[in-house]
Amino acid sequence: MARLPRVFISRELPGDALTGIQGRVELDLWAGAEPPSNRELAARFKDANGVLCLLTDAIDALLLDSAQDLRVISSCSVGVDHIDVVAATARGIPVGHTPGVLTETTADLAFALLLAAARRVAEGDRYIRKGDWRPERVWAPDMFLGRDLHGASLGIVGFGAIGRAVARRARGFGMRVRVWSRTRDPEASVEWGSLDEVLSQSDFLSIHVALSDETRGLIDRRALSLVRPDAVLVNTARGGIVDEAALADALAEGRLAGAGLDVFETEPIARDSPLLGLENVVLTPHVGSASVATRSRMAALAVDNLLAGLEGRRLPHCANPEVYS
Ligand code: NAP
Ligand code: GLV
Repeated sequence: MARLPRVFISRELPGDALTGIQGRVELDLWAGAEPPSNRELAARFKDANGVLCLLTDAIDALLLDSAQDLRVISSCSVGVDHIDVVAATARGIPVGHTPGVLTETTADLAFALLLAAARRVAEGDRYIRKGDWRPERVWAPDMFLGRDLHGASLGIVGFGAIGRAVARRARGFGMRVRVWSRTRDPEASVEWGSLDEVLSQSDFLSIHVALSDETRGLIDRRALSLVRPDAVLVNTARGGIVDEAALADALAEGRLAGAGLDVFETEPIARDSPLLGLENVVLTPHVGSASVATRSRMAALAVDNLLAGLEGRRLPHCANPEVYS
């Protein structure tokens, strides 16, 4: 009898996606509480025909060299910046990812951060929990004054699926939308601008480009110097797109009014990060796609990609379609 394909899955997945592969593969499921280390990944990759990974698994060329029998990598994420996709393509390995199913959920979180930073929601929550809300200051005309979203302009950096979904929400909130994107879609009825124009003319900014060598540090010290001092910046894309030290300086020195961050240069965020001491920052632990329904859909899609790769079919959602040409 033919041997079943050997599959390494680097974490238990939500929903029932994994029940579908039982009996179809020889499964090696990582059971550790923390993600596998590089050494552990190398040991698991060695014999694997297929890998289903998370964005916490760094997959570089060296690791791929240790995986002589690998036929497919399927990531349970839309972003694939944790994978050396060029190296995978060079070795003929298709890389699967999960676009689309997480778009609206991630756009919701970007909007939650916009609102929370604009209206100082987390600050107010801390104020009450600390016991500072006392009878002598039960309500005051100048308490926790924030910024209105309605009537304000939102600059969107990167007009992919999530950028567009954020733009739809912004219009519903009565915001004016201005967009910078590498590619301009002539069909999209938005106001386009150069990156510098969008940065300097927006009351709110939301970052939605993918992380790559070209976009790393896109929002650097110079870019931040263009932003209005009363603006609020939200990043739900990847931490590496924004220079975090420059961002913390701008927030601390009053050159930027607020920020909402779901992603960080290093995750988890360093315990001594200056961002942790700033009242005008709202932080979430990389939970953009974290709804019950969306995480189940992502898991199902990741399993579909994995099985397609193992069976030699084209992946339904392939991040390196050039591998087939
Ligand atoms: P998408 O539809 O592929 O959009 C990606 C955007 O990035 C496009 O506008 C694309 O421009 C732009 N881009 C890619 N490379 C670029 C470059 N070198 N220079 C300038 N622009 C570049 O992806 P999406 O679904 O919207 O997701 C966007 C990102 O959000 C993901 O890559 C991921 O990092 C992040 N994300 C985070 C969470 C979270 O939990 N916080 C959840 C989901 C996604 P073109 O149209 O010109 O290609
Ligand atoms: C989450 O960050 C993703 O890329 O899916």
